[in-house]
Amino acid sequence: MDREDQLIRRSHGEPFVALAHRHLRRRDVLRLGVGSLATGALAWAAPRGSARPDGFEPLAWRADDRVAVPPGYEVDVVVRWGDPLSAAAPAFDPAGPSAAAQALQFGYNCDFVGFLPLPRNGFASDRGLLCVSSEYTSPHMMWPEYRADADQVAADLAAHGLNVVEVVRQPEGWRYVPDSALNRRVTGDTPVTIAGPAAGHALMRTSYDPSGTTVRGTLNNCSGGLTPWRTWLQAEENFNQYFTADPKATGVAAEMARRYGIGRGRPDYPAHHPRFDLSQEPNEANCFGWMVELDPYDPTAKPIKRTALGRFKHEAASLRLTDEGRVAVYMGDDQGFEYVYKFVSEGRFNPELGAANGDLLNEGVLYVARYTADGGGEWLPLVFGHGPLTAENGFGSQAEVLIRTREAADLLGATPMDRPEDVEASPLTGRIYIACTNNTRRAPAQAGGPNPRGPNRYGHIIELEEAAGDAGATTFRWTLLLTAGPPGQSDYNGHADASPLSCPDNLAFDRQGNLWITTDGQTKTVAANDGVYRVPLKGDQRGNPKQFLSGVPGGEISGPCFTPDQTTFFCAIQHPGVDVRGASWQTPGSRFPDYDPAVPPRPSVIAVRRTDGGQVGE
Ligand code: FEO
Ligand code: CA
Ligand code: CA
Repeated sequence: MDREDQLIRRSHGEPFVALAHRHLRRRDVLRLGVGSLATGALAWAAPRGSARPDGFEPLAWRADDRVAVPPGYEVDVVVRWGDPLSAAAPAFDPAGPSAAAQALQFGYNCDFVGFLPLPRNGFASDRGLLCVSSEYTSPHMMWPEYRADADQVAADLAAHGLNVVEVVRQPEGWRYVPDSALNRRVTGDTPVTIAGPAAGHALMRTSYDPSGTTVRGTLNNCSGGLTPWRTWLQAEENFNQYFTADPKATGVAAEMARRYGIGRGRPDYPAHHPRFDLSQEPNEANCFGWMVELDPYDPTAKPIKRTALGRFKHEAASLRLTDEGRVAVYMGDDQGFEYVYKFVSEGRFNPELGAANGDLLNEGVLYVARYTADGGGEWLPLVFGHGPLTAENGFGSQAEVLIRTREAADLLGATPMDRPEDVEASPLTGRIYIACTNNTRRAPAQAGGPNPRGPNRYGHIIELEEAAGDAGATTFRWTLLLTAGPPGQSDYNGHADASPLSCPDNLAFDRQGNLWITTDGQTKTVAANDGVYRVPLKGDQRGNPKQFLSGVPGGEISGPCFTPDQTTFFCAIQHPGVDVRGASWQTPGSRFPDYDPAVPPRPSVIAVRRTDGGQVGE
């Protein structure tokens, strides 16, 4: 039994943090403390039920309109698009929301799901706050007729953003608390503070806030992460799609628009909100594409864009402490041929400071990854004045390096990846897992190293190990954990009995150190519903996926997480019934979760429990 196994075994009988403090060195306490909340390794008591030698009976690919789980498990629908989040909120209307209603209801297309125990600083697994993002909308699925009038566009904007929802586990299962004072919406219109090196820069100034320190809203909130100080970091991903470019733009503005893909965005937003028309509000788009922090326990807390973490199509964030107690944040830029990043704070984490630790994210070094074909690599610093990031190359300050992160990373020679979605650090080993979901534009001649296939239809997962296991290291080693796809077009570490998967997206870890994977794209690539898979990372079963859950047609699975005691697994069913040919409000590809012909499908968060109350997956 190695040290990792000892930790896992001991943690079943006593509080994991207390045990850690008794047995481990400072660096290990810090490291384990960070990831443990996010992944469910904190526990006050051993759960009921017992470990089963085979874990669970794996599913096969399915295409039916039901969420499927293995025998011995059950599913609760916890919260759905349109569910009221306050006593003042109207009930869901199948004919579509008004702007006023949507601002008080659960948003559309839930992606990230994080569980924070209640009360604050506790370790409860039966009561907590779900932190859920609403990434984007599908207007043709939300209204029987989308006319793009002023109220519909305002409702669409309100269907984006963040949701904080109190949830409780009762004998019959999980439910949300509709009138909790802790429930909260942050939408595409909520005032958000801009902090860090880019705050106040001339490129961030708008007519709404000429000081460049506040912006209206957060948009395209894909996945995210929880911090060691129990706040929520939330990515802004495909922010470009809301803006129309200024056809007269030249110089920096034109190059930045090209590099971020800002061109002809959806026309309904600028039609009703001139700030989305860059010919009228040239800097508005510069205020998007950041990482946003929110303190979910404080309903009055203002969301904050942490600009030191860079500006790109942020997928998610995974935090870990360095050996010196600094905060490392791992992040991916989800687009074909984009990069993997790491931020390391200047200051050190102090548990006594609570949510005030968030200001650590204002000062530090942002790095981008360059891989070598022989399994090595280094983190290249994006620091103004360092290497090519100088005035001669068009960068006038650190703020400009961050606002134009992609261009800065290009100059450094970062390695273009196959759409890096989730980048997650294992709380038990510190190794980093990178889900490259796919990249059909990679040519055969471009295949090799950490992106071994061209075209890459099915995706792969990279395992990265920092030098000396320190999240503060500037060099690393990497290897491939698996290449996904159907049998014959994949490699699951040689396991012929693997459950095949395609297009890995979000990642999580259980207390045993296994990796959990959700997929986004099986409908299109292998004609199966998207799913959830568990993959051991050590021993003779390393790299052998088993399918745990199957979703519904036309919807991806995202946001996997566990309660601290691992007796509940949460995930989101995003855009159910949408990604199928000809889908509309009238003819959706799924009727999940209401299965009422008069009600469109509704993106929802579900909870999966073992009927005997034991640990999920064991
Ligand atoms: Fe929103 Fe990259 O998935
Ligand atoms: Ca994703
Ligand atoms: Ca996705």
